[in-house]
Amino acid sequence: MNLFNVYPLFNINPVKAQGSFLWDDKGEKYLDFYGGHAVISIGHNHPHYQAQLKNQLDKISFYSNSVQNELQTELAGKLGKLSGLEEYNLFLCNSGAEANENALKLASFHNGKNKVLYFSGSFHGRTSAAVSVTDNPKIVAPVNYDERFVKSEWNNIEQLEEVFEKQGNELSSVIIEGIQGVGGIMIPTVEFLTKIKELCEKYDAVLILDEVQSGYGRSGYFFAHQEFGIEADIITTAKGMGNGFPIGGVLIHPKFQASYGLLGTTFGGNHLACVAAIAVLDVMKDENIIENAQKMGEYIENEIKDFPHIKTIRRKGLMIGIELDRDCSEVRNSLLYHHHIFTGNSNDKAVLRILPALNIKKEETDLFINALKEVLENI
Ligand SMILES: Cc1ncc(COP(=O)(O)O)c(C=O)c1O
Repeated sequence: MNLFNVYPLFNINPVKAQGSFLWDDKGEKYLDFYGGHAVISIGHNHPHYQAQLKNQLDKISFYSNSVQNELQTELAGKLGKLSGLEEYNLFLCNSGAEANENALKLASFHNGKNKVLYFSGSFHGRTSAAVSVTDNPKIVAPVNYDERFVKSEWNNIEQLEEVFEKQGNELSSVIIEGIQGVGGIMIPTVEFLTKIKELCEKYDAVLILDEVQSGYGRSGYFFAHQEFGIEADIITTAKGMGNGFPIGGVLIHPKFQASYGLLGTTFGGNHLACVAAIAVLDVMKDENIIENAQKMGEYIENEIKDFPHIKTIRRKGLMIGIELDRDCSEVRNSLLYHHHIFTGNSNDKAVLRILPALNIKKEETDLFINALKEVLENI
């Protein structure tokens, strides 16, 4: 059997990883400034994370959600504390798309309405409803198109008000990323977010903050929208939550009523996933990782801001979009093949997406800064 060929692959085969570095099968070392799509939050193979997972494997790795699992309660408690959202309830699942799928469904159960507002440039995942609120025709299949999904322009308050005026009473929810990642690190204005919140309240629509990429400390806040003091009704998370172990979460405001069977999953919240997520939170707290993300992000921006060919830098914490005056692919390839540094791209071809581990060290950022300087000075 062959693999279904849907991924264009770099010709690199990583076989070992530690901290912010990877090694391939030929022993070549690479600096990871992309974290495998923003997944690596506390660095590869963090010793505490490794030890906790190995220890759990010796006990029990899985049983279904029909029995007690104290690890889920411990995870919810620690997540509530570190995020400052102790009054929210947690539903555990396996991925970002699944978290959004459950959020959209829960909103619709809650208010009985069936339309969803989303924004240009959005990416919310590839499952049915999640991809319907994703602004990329290439990945939306005909079966996913439906007039229930309404698009409005990013950061455009006038258009937002028009949509609510016409369809507000039918809108079940509004889904928005804390910071758009795949869209090219697009930061919402505080006025835009505040207006969305106000209109959601007025029209009884549920505000869903997708923090799958911008969450878990990456922005320098636990969740990016918290910087603006906005209260979300539902928050979705995944990626950095398990540092590579698949896990997703839906944080649910206490106003939502739970009932048996309303949501469910076979694998969500399994023992190994919970241990991985608890280890991430422990390391985030013990090593002041969010503060580090804030500091290192600021340092990188200051060092690179005057480099040639950079048009703008959009950044919060260690979620960095470097907009070049050209397609970024040549720069990205040069960083990878000549300097052995992984970086990311985005739907905006000019934007280089930088998402290192949140505990990146200054000397590691210097490797990236020096390499970027050399590449940009020579194109
Ligand atoms: C903001 C956002 N939401 C949802 C997803 C989907 O997550 P997953 O690939 O885990 O389903 C992504 C993935 O890139 C994302 O960036």
